[in-house]
Amino acid sequence: MMIICGHHQKVDYQENGEGAYDLAFLPRGKRMAGTGSFSEILDGENNVYKYYSEGEWRKSVSGKSVAIVNPTTRKTQYKVQACSQAEVNKVMEAAKIAQKAWAKTPLWKRAELLHKAAAILKEHKHPIAECLVKEIAKPAKDSVTEVVRSGDLISYCAEEGVRILGQGTFLVSDSFPGNERTKYCLASKVPLGVVLAIPPFNYPVNLAVSKIAPALIAGNSIVLKPPTQGAVSCLHMVHCFHLAGFPKSLINCVTGKGSEIGDFLTMHPGVNCISFTGGDTGISISKKAGMIPLQMELGGKDACIVLEDADLDLAAANIVKGGLSYSGQRCTAVKIVLVMESVADALMEKVNAKVAKLTVGPPEEDCDITPVVSESSANFIEGLVMDAKEKGATFCQTYKREGNLIWPLLLDNVRADMRIAWEEPFGPVLPVIRIGSVEEGINHCNASNFGLQGCVFTKDINKAMIISDAMETGTVQINSAPARGPDHFPFQGLKDSGIGSQGITNSINMMVKVKSTVINLPTASYTMG
Ligand code: G3H
Repeated sequence: MMIICGHHQKVDYQENGEGAYDLAFLPRGKRMAGTGSFSEILDGENNVYKYYSEGEWRKSVSGKSVAIVNPTTRKTQYKVQACSQAEVNKVMEAAKIAQKAWAKTPLWKRAELLHKAAAILKEHKHPIAECLVKEIAKPAKDSVTEVVRSGDLISYCAEEGVRILGQGTFLVSDSFPGNERTKYCLASKVPLGVVLAIPPFNYPVNLAVSKIAPALIAGNSIVLKPPTQGAVSCLHMVHCFHLAGFPKSLINCVTGKGSEIGDFLTMHPGVNCISFTGGDTGISISKKAGMIPLQMELGGKDACIVLEDADLDLAAANIVKGGLSYSGQRCTAVKIVLVMESVADALMEKVNAKVAKLTVGPPEEDCDITPVVSESSANFIEGLVMDAKEKGATFCQTYKREGNLIWPLLLDNVRADMRIAWEEPFGPVLPVIRIGSVEEGINHCNASNFGLQGCVFTKDINKAMIISDAMETGTVQINSAPARGPDHFPFQGLKDSGIGSQGITNSINMMVKVKSTVINLPTASYTMG
């Protein structure tokens, strides 16, 4: 029996007549999205959030807006500006000019401003968390955690940038055959220019700053295109950078319809780098983008292999947390369990016992399972569940859905002919395949188009290492669920899961190019000491 959060038997909201809903989850005095320090980002007359260009909060001349639907209430929660292509052009031009001056700003000063922005962001964690709860139905505590984690990421990035960007390489020519010591090469890291940052809905703040902070410390300017769902959280976060006092036009944020400005942005000649996190749209962006560096993370079908000697309590805890936190809407969620047949019954008993304790309901009440981001997402998940049902999967719980809220569901005895064996539900539905050998598990993992992360549960570190080497994924976690963090660890996907490597250090290095100056001497010169 699943627990329904708090007193709610079903999701039931009181509208106050102005499109605002019960905010009881926030401490008193902290209900501030769009008010107080944030009042200038909202066009109060029309109740539409403004976009950020040339250091100012502006209304689009299009006069149009994009509605953001609250996943829980399924009513319009916020509206943002529908920017035009002409407004994008203006932002690009200004960002290009601002970047030139920023590249000449001393590294320590860039770091100082980033530390300031991090502190302001953390100070405003409650109003930003409020937006996350309302826009993407992230549980209240996780929403606060996302903002705090983002502040920490910015600060770490500032410090890492000071360390690694202050260093270059010094090479001498006589190590290569045919050369005497007549050439000294000084290689340093210089900015790329304008970085286009496109974060996804599930971490609109954190995955935006994981692009913005490395770009800025490396001397680049930023054009941010937030996801529609999550845009208001992003705008609040950008305002924290504004309050920190970054030069105007260095950071810009345009909102609008993908159909109007999506391709226009990604194919814009003013863009020098794209950092994108999201779904397979990234594949089409990579085909259309020009000859510029791309950083992409496009999801995963992370496998969890459980061996006969695994600590089953540990595996069960990680399967439930890794597979179902934020209702499975994480690229690094456990998306398929591959368990050895001999321990499958015992594992499933433990997993199902934990699933029964999960709370289901609104994000305001900090439930474990909250509504998925949109109706179309819920319909997609339902399609996968129905396909598995028709093909004979064992339902460990009864399938239940109310609006966008889907109760957690484990599907046992899944087979390779079921869509759920291969597709990412991005919802609280987790398939389990019983395997007869480790090779079977590895083969299933490697047959996927994705290759983000995977995990293996075993007490034998030697076996774990062999399996890790055999799994074609960017990361393998031994005895823990897949996860991106800590945020300075390298984070990368193989195959359709992405291009390049992220994590603070790798992102900074990705957002620079190497520039060499070679000193040519008339005669060879050797240091004799
Ligand atoms: O959704 C994609 C994120 O990169 C996953 O991050 O492992 O911290 O949840 P996470």
